Amino acid sequence: MKEFVFDVDYVRNQFPCLCRSVNGNPAAFFDGPGGTQVPVNVVEKMTDYLINHNANQAGHFITSVESDALFKTGREVLADFLGADSDEIAFGASSTSNLVRLAFGFARSFKPGDEVIITDIDHEGNRSPWRTLSDFGVVVKSVKVNPETCMLDMEDYEDKLTDKTKLVAVNWAANACGTITDVAHIIKLAHDKGAITVVDAVHYAPHYPIDVKELDVDILVCSAYKFFGPHLGIVYMKRSIGEKFKAVRVYADDNATMPSKLETGTPAFENVLGAVAAVEFLADIGEKYLECFAEKLGNSTGRRRKILAGMMAIAAYEKPLADYIRAELGKIDGIKLYMSPPDQPKTSTVSFTYRDINSSDVAEYLASKGIFVWYGDFYALQIVNSVLKLGDRGGLVRVGLEPYNTRQECDRLIESVKEFANTAKL
Ligand SMILES: Cc1ncc(COP(=O)(O)O)c(C=O)c1O
Repeated sequence: MKEFVFDVDYVRNQFPCLCRSVNGNPAAFFDGPGGTQVPVNVVEKMTDYLINHNANQAGHFITSVESDALFKTGREVLADFLGADSDEIAFGASSTSNLVRLAFGFARSFKPGDEVIITDIDHEGNRSPWRTLSDFGVVVKSVKVNPETCMLDMEDYEDKLTDKTKLVAVNWAANACGTITDVAHIIKLAHDKGAITVVDAVHYAPHYPIDVKELDVDILVCSAYKFFGPHLGIVYMKRSIGEKFKAVRVYADDNATMPSKLETGTPAFENVLGAVAAVEFLADIGEKYLECFAEKLGNSTGRRRKILAGMMAIAAYEKPLADYIRAELGKIDGIKLYMSPPDQPKTSTVSFTYRDINSSDVAEYLASKGIFVWYGDFYALQIVNSVLKLGDRGGLVRVGLEPYNTRQECDRLIESVKEFANTAKL
């Protein structure tokens, strides 16, 4: 097997924003979990659509015909990204909007007394829409998180799962602290009870390959702006579930078909094409590393094989950098890392607090050095505010790694946190 050496310069050269400076320091974009930067090919594809093909759908004239064809390609490319079939892929404004519409749709079928399970580790986007079902008499239960391990309490999940459970909505990777949950196990247990499963892969998708068929998930959502694309939400819905799903949309009669029954209004064609280009960007990375990951790529072919290799390369590049940041920050007196135990899988997202200092102050100091990190609850309200109880001190400081970040940027981050700690002690 060919030795893996990630060509970070090749990636960086595709992101013009990376040459920006702040107060004389080069900008270091560690804000990826809030939305990644966008490579040039994404901007070019969106611009090309708007300049040369812009039209509404289903017309006889050439730009409309082209728009329809490009939209179809969009479904095919995103299906390759998720390991799905193209008639199982739908688009919407964002994952939150998609989940709101899905919950509204399920409200048409669920009965009072039916049960839905959500989790305390999730972003509100995959909690609030389901919680609203309680207005329709549905019982909504939330699985606890262990504050020491930042992991879901699986015993609590098993206790909450009953014969009345109709749907389980769970998070694959936590945007607040990077915990990766064993969703395959959760799905298996839910299916044993006949429940439908919904996986929020918004924070997972930029970091690891996804295979919805292997996972056997019924519904999965992700957002293109977290994996180098524009603002767009993507829904995978298993065909057998989609055929029975009662959607909420214009002409929501029983004749509406998949996947368009999951979509409302005129599609954002340009954003779909931006998402296509984002996947092409990932496949292009993968093409360079096909030999390195040949043993793990199975029988995959064509674009799917390149996407898988691209995601494996990204994961293999980000992990040691994230481990390095965790190890170095962990040595600084007063830093508390919020993460699952070392042997547990995680994304390359590192979250911490410094003593009882407001996380906003840490993020502001780093921003002055050109180091872009987020602070707060990141809409993961339950885990950050109720489980970790960090609401009154600015939540967490969150550092997110992407394939355009470098080891030198990590060193600058670590040094700057040390400087902040020294200043704060004075
Ligand atoms: C884990 C997770 N789920 C859901 C969302 C919501 O996604 P969107 O902004 O596309 O609605 C986010 C956004 O940060 C997220 O990180």
